[in-house]
Amino acid sequence: MKLIQVRDYEEMSKKAADIVISYVKANPNAVLGLATGSTPTGLYKNLIEDHRKNGTSYKSVRTFNLDEYIGLDGNHPQSYRYFMDEHLFNHIDILKENTSVLNGKSENPEKECERYEQMIREAGGIHIQILGIGRNGHIAFNEPGTPFTSRTHIVKLAESTRQANSRFFQSLDEVPTHSITMGIETIMESREILLLASGSSKAEPIRKLFTEPISESFPASILRKHPNVIVIADQEALKDT
Ligand code: GLP
Repeated sequence: MKLIQVRDYEEMSKKAADIVISYVKANPNAVLGLATGSTPTGLYKNLIEDHRKNGTSYKSVRTFNLDEYIGLDGNHPQSYRYFMDEHLFNHIDILKENTSVLNGKSENPEKECERYEQMIREAGGIHIQILGIGRNGHIAFNEPGTPFTSRTHIVKLAESTRQANSRFFQSLDEVPTHSITMGIETIMESREILLLASGSSKAEPIRKLFTEPISESFPASILRKHPNVIVIADQEALKDT
């Protein structure tokens, strides 16, 4: 893993955006893996700004998002589809049909997992995957204990994850109990991974990312086996490392 140390959230977002923008410029047919949460919103802001100022085009770019809550449809303000539309897709020239987010309202979630895997395969795999990290080391919604061999699957969310994410909902009760997520093996097949971390709440998971033995009890640890991971972390996130 390559570590890029930055000062703060702004610098992390700018560095990540520079990497994505130069990739998209060189590869107009880029396949991007995208993440939600507070961490990547600054990156998306930078992509939008650059699109407006410099005209970087996403017309032929395809995207796959990591995960979605089960039970929320794409119009629900806390769904990850809604998040992506609001924070990125509505503000750049990407074609909506080229953006894929798992369907949290699918009548047959198992089938939805297979469909998603097939779409990623047909797109030729993900070129750059953006990742955040959960406080317990989860990546996407792969909670501790998830097999490293997992493909896109349905997950019962850890209570700690529901609590951490309840800040986006009116109350904890409203946070869905299940989600649908790319699996760890699916993520590991991306050609390049960009993991972003900012703030002191990420200090412990970032320390563990670099020091814990590789184990399913700390899902992000598997990234150490990936040949092409860049971690961009700020001072606060690195304070214990
Ligand atoms: C959620 C998402 C993850 C994300 C993590 C951290 O549970 N499913 O993909 O990486 O939380 O979120 P944040 O960036 O808001 O700290």
